[in-house]
Amino acid sequence: MFRTHTCGELRLSDVNTEVILSGWVAGSRDFGSLTFVDLRDRYGITQLAFNEEINKELLLQARELGREYVIQVKGKVAERSNKNTKIPTGDIEIIANEIKVLNVSKIPPFTIEENTDGGEDLRMQYRYLDLRRESVRKKLELRHRVAQFTREYLSKNGFLEVETPVLIKSTPEGARDFVVPSRMNEGEFYALPQSPQTFKQLLMVAGFDKYFQIVKCFRDEDLRADRQPEFTQIDCEMSFVEREDVLQTFEGLVKHLFKEEKGLEITQIPRMSYADAMYNYGSDKPDIRFGMTFHYLDDIAKGKGFGIFDNSQSIIAICAKGAANYTRKQIDELTDYVKRPQIGAKGLIWCRYAEDGLKSSVDKFFSTTDLQKWAEKCSAQVGDLILVLSGDTTATQKQMNELRLYLGTQLGLRDNSVYSPLWVIDFPLLEWDEEAQRFFAMHHPFTSPNPEDISKLDSNPASVNANAYDLVINGVEVGGGSVRIFDKSLQSKMFKILGFTPDEAQKQFGFLMNAFEYGAPPHAGIAFGFDRLCSLFGGSDSIRDYIAFPKNNKGRDMMIDAPSTISQEQLNELSLSITITDKK
Ligand code: AMO
Repeated sequence: MFRTHTCGELRLSDVNTEVILSGWVAGSRDFGSLTFVDLRDRYGITQLAFNEEINKELLLQARELGREYVIQVKGKVAERSNKNTKIPTGDIEIIANEIKVLNVSKIPPFTIEENTDGGEDLRMQYRYLDLRRESVRKKLELRHRVAQFTREYLSKNGFLEVETPVLIKSTPEGARDFVVPSRMNEGEFYALPQSPQTFKQLLMVAGFDKYFQIVKCFRDEDLRADRQPEFTQIDCEMSFVEREDVLQTFEGLVKHLFKEEKGLEITQIPRMSYADAMYNYGSDKPDIRFGMTFHYLDDIAKGKGFGIFDNSQSIIAICAKGAANYTRKQIDELTDYVKRPQIGAKGLIWCRYAEDGLKSSVDKFFSTTDLQKWAEKCSAQVGDLILVLSGDTTATQKQMNELRLYLGTQLGLRDNSVYSPLWVIDFPLLEWDEEAQRFFAMHHPFTSPNPEDISKLDSNPASVNANAYDLVINGVEVGGGSVRIFDKSLQSKMFKILGFTPDEAQKQFGFLMNAFEYGAPPHAGIAFGFDRLCSLFGGSDSIRDYIAFPKNNKGRDMMIDAPSTISQEQLNELSLSITITDKK
């Protein structure tokens, strides 16, 4: 028997029990005649005590133990004289009477402690060691629980978990595919699924009624803190439902997860149209934990001789409550922030509402009466700071969204322990791409137009709204879905609008359109970003921490060193020849 107990289990009530523990040496403290060793496993840390007076030989043996050695210890539980209130086992220690080294360890490349000295790259390279740290392991425990709660809720509500294939067909829509060459079919490739979208729709045609899957998806896109090339979705689909049924069902899931994981009761999730979200927040995923919504000053700030405003499509202001005392340096820093190339504003206008009145960076053009109107429009009061950007409407909305979020963080309005979920609804169906000179589906090509907009598909496709919805929590897009097209002719029309010839549509998506000819039921669904949901619950911005073996921001697995080249023999087998062009 390797152990009678784990390292997180023993308490005062176990005093005098003979126990066997196994684990890793987390550290030791040597006081001459007395040596303490901390023994760690997944469940916690238990102190082992070695006393010269009790067993000198064993004490010498304990002193030889290196960090991260795997050992087995036999001994008796005793009450500690010097209790450690920071750990659950802190009241006891084990008076050891036997040690067995099960395996030795090299000195780890970084300390396996909460305040580790290991940099990000090193910890990624030795991820299995980083995973020994309690805070890292706890994140994966959270992930496990959230997966269990998800399965529990969905199973209880009649959803069947079905696995769909990982080697599928490359499709031209969406992000870039990861492709896999087929040895048996020379010159042909599989693609890894960006999502199981078409398969779950086929399961609805098959009559499965309610499907879900906690499933890996793959997208070859640029990486960010909330994006990984392989990530996990809670993917769901239902038949004989309308939008309202889907929103209700998955609002139930969200409530269940918050209740079980966070102990929080979420009341009804508010809804906001895409148009309102863009107008008031400049984002289709607004963080509604705080206000600071947009005010449009066009009516009152144009025609006063300030060319920048006069030549703008929109003049947008936000009011930062209590920020009138921002120093010139702080405002300059905000200006530099919005002028960064990623944000692209040309400058930032400010107006302080101080005790002694209104003062702005454009006093030359605007009288106190003018500024008073700005303040009224923004509901600004003494103590507030109004910040204004202007230019092309869409660009200015986006820039102001960045500034709003930046200021929200700076002013402490984005508390990670506060959760504000939101449904964003009524997205446009299509997005015009200037470069490609064609429409793209904003969600995906299987999304149904809003029923009342179908007649506008021919005359004014850009004005058609989609029967689609996103779940946004604290400014993070956590999920997205839609009511689907289930009629072959409407689906063909959609492909036509997206620029596919009937032949291309048949070649790419014939399997789905053919299936629609065999009794496809009305259906709808949604997919949640499981990694994003976990990181939100954990109060973190990065999804990487919630993935056991993540990729770095260049898409590399530093531990196994992937991707990597393959041998000429493998290339030959796959009938591939590669030419590397120097991109530099
Ligand atoms: P969508 O593309 O919106 O919809 O994806 C659903 C959710 O998946 C998460 N997500 C990601 N998470 C981490 N890394 C990524 N690279 C990444 N990309 C997406 C987001 C997103 O909201 N088939 C449709 C769903 C449907 O219509 O039912 C789909 O995949 O949280």
